[in-house]
Amino acid sequence: MNNNLLILDGISKSFPGVKALDRVSFEVKEGSIHALVGENGAGKSTLIKILAGIYQPDEGTITLAGEKVRFKTPYESLCKGISVVHQELKLSEPLSIAENIFLGNLIYKGIRVDWKSMRKKARELLDKFGMSIDVNEPVINLSVAQKQMIEICKAVNHNCRLLIMDEPSATLTEKEQKIMFETVRKLRANGITIIYISHRLEEIFDLADNVTVLRDGKCIGTVPVKDIDKRTLISMMVGRELVNEYPKEKFEVGETVLEVRNLCRKGVLKNISFKVRKGELVGIAGLVGSGRTELARAILGIDKIDSGEVLLYGKPIKFSNFRAAISSGFGLVPESRKTQGLVQILSVRNNICMASMEKVLSPSGLVSKRKEKEYSNEYVKKLDISTPSIETEVQYLSGGNQQKVVVAKWLLKGSDIIFLDEPTRGIDVGAKREIYLLINDLIRQGKVVIMISSELPEILGMSDRILVMHEGELKGELTREEATQEKILELCV
Ligand SMILES: Nc1ncnc2c1ncn2[C@@H]1O[C@H](COP(=O)(O)OP(=O)(O)OP(=O)(O)O)[C@@H](O)[C@H]1O
Ligand SMILES: [Mg+2]
Repeated sequence: MNNNLLILDGISKSFPGVKALDRVSFEVKEGSIHALVGENGAGKSTLIKILAGIYQPDEGTITLAGEKVRFKTPYESLCKGISVVHQELKLSEPLSIAENIFLGNLIYKGIRVDWKSMRKKARELLDKFGMSIDVNEPVINLSVAQKQMIEICKAVNHNCRLLIMDEPSATLTEKEQKIMFETVRKLRANGITIIYISHRLEEIFDLADNVTVLRDGKCIGTVPVKDIDKRTLISMMVGRELVNEYPKEKFEVGETVLEVRNLCRKGVLKNISFKVRKGELVGIAGLVGSGRTELARAILGIDKIDSGEVLLYGKPIKFSNFRAAISSGFGLVPESRKTQGLVQILSVRNNICMASMEKVLSPSGLVSKRKEKEYSNEYVKKLDISTPSIETEVQYLSGGNQQKVVVAKWLLKGSDIIFLDEPTRGIDVGAKREIYLLINDLIRQGKVVIMISSELPEILGMSDRILVMHEGELKGELTREEATQEKILELCV
């Protein structure tokens, strides 16, 4: 009996300077959840884009339900029942939720577009996912997590037989993730096959039936998840043993550097007070929308505050804008690389050096390309950024490697007080560890690091102290010793 829905045979794809896929072959069983894992730049998204008809393979064949297929356009792939939720969301922001779900798939009543039916069906889909938002809401007003769910609804609405999800959970929190997992399992029960990409390996073990590992464009193997443990999977991914995922170092705790007193911003932040001392890493946990990013933005002068104060070494400071905060030694690795962190059409070199002009000026006051090259090469190496060269435009880098460029930019800047907002989102396990080591370095140098993260293992693994936020309030503070996943979750809700 042949129950493979999809057979990939010898798929290769090259881009200038990179062989993104090198004769990749594997099979996906009908009605299974098939995970696809690998380091940043391993070729996962490229493979998905081939299945989605966005790229054509240079060689190799794809067999879908016993039929050889070759998609010249995304539409052809869609017609064969393949739907994709891409890593970078592709919604139309000004349009409503209902409009987005039915974009390209409108329901007609006679010759008229039947808005009533579409809104009703959209409502049913949202209910299925436990989302209570109005379907008339423009997508632009939604959080990243909510947009993600709309993408999933949209794919499901296309009556797909193969649903491909490229890091769908990267932006979701525990609760939203649970709902998404349930939905994915429900889809499987209905005979839909799912290809699932994630850097969160816990999820793979929780959710998937089989897993394929890619490394440097090559297929390393496909195994049933029940026959493998996390360690083995990691070593398949990175090609070596990885010891100690969270290389936490303890430093002597010193004076208070930053203090926030009764910070308020109407409707967003309620009376928040906390201190951060030298030598400690403070983690901020909470659900998406709990006000964590808003807290950082208010402290950094990006958003106005209504009352309360921020003290640096005991002296009140107030930034009228972000620029002022930067010149006082503050830095921020922002959460959304696409809109806030990077200029897509500039090179890796330009992006890394962009915030550190003072470092790359020559004595004559001109930008020294030599210095720019030195610095960017240094960070490309330190963070193991996979790119053909430092002159490559960042838009051609894989998602995780773009995130590494954002991190590099702020590390080079060398700010004294650094807010990291979801610093390792979409970054593979090996590179995450490199980032944790760099965080250790920063603290050793006497810098202050505040890390916002939705990944509880990371918060627990790296923080000395954990602040938990919920609906704009600080609900509690846990020390490293007393913190557990359960305690944090209790405070979150
Ligand atoms: N359009 C493109 N032009 C040039 N190079 C590209 C293009 N798309 C991808 N690449 C390169 O192909 C390789 C594979 O990238 P891909 O996006 O498939 O990685 P990935 O496994 O999805 O990584 P991540 O986990 O970071 O998302 C990378 O080296 C990337 O820089
Ligand atoms: Mg990718």
